[in-house]
Amino acid sequence: MQGMEEYILSHIDEEGELLTDLRRDAHVNLLRPRMLSGHLQGRLLKMFCRMIRPQRVLEIGTYTGYATLCMAEGMEAGTVIHTVEINDEMELFIRRYVSRSPEREKIRLHFGDALEVVPRLGGEYDMVFMDGGKHQYRAYYEMVFPYLRLGGFIVADNTLWDGKVVHPPSPIDKQTSGIIAFNELIGHDRRVEKVILPLRDGLTVIRKCAV
Ligand SMILES: C[S@@+](CC[C@H](N)C(=O)[O-])C[C@H]1O[C@@H](n2cnc3c(N)ncnc32)[C@H](O)[C@@H]1O
Repeated sequence: MQGMEEYILSHIDEEGELLTDLRRDAHVNLLRPRMLSGHLQGRLLKMFCRMIRPQRVLEIGTYTGYATLCMAEGMEAGTVIHTVEINDEMELFIRRYVSRSPEREKIRLHFGDALEVVPRLGGEYDMVFMDGGKHQYRAYYEMVFPYLRLGGFIVADNTLWDGKVVHPPSPIDKQTSGIIAFNELIGHDRRVEKVILPLRDGLTVIRKCAV
């Protein structure tokens, strides 16, 4: 499918110089650079923001800030994106790129465990991008649900987890078990509408339609 990926990337919006620099820097200097959203998913997250027009966005799991910058690009002036990262060793890397972005005023960076930081922040979100530790997806969902406005959206990344979700997980594979448990929870939760996009590693789009 490499040819197909090249075809898609050459027929969609460019990611721009800042994000290309960030991505190259991550591939040279960071462990696990594949964790960042990348060109296609980044443009999709920007497009979601154009469609939803959120005033307030939450991202769980900043890593390099790639997706943060993409979502901020799609958000209107005066809006805010709160992004939470547990690994404070990423701070210099993230700030290096956020400071170069014309969208920097929209971005609020927080360090700590999202399960503790988000309740402290309070307030209401129009959109949540869930992309932290895969073993904690259920906990993130239950924690964040009261803070999501009625009609708001959660976009959860990696929900097909390299196709591992269709096989019984090994008892020591907490990440696959976490994603499977999350997919089961969402699949049966009648308070939400949901669809899984088989894009990249699986992206679940969830809309809150009841409290
Ligand atoms: C897949 S990466 C995020 C990629 C980023 N959202 C993007 O699309 O470019 C996951 C990040 O979540 C962070 N993380 C894991 N558990 C977390 C938690 N409980 N709270 C906040 N961040 C967490 C990890 O340190 C890692 O940097």
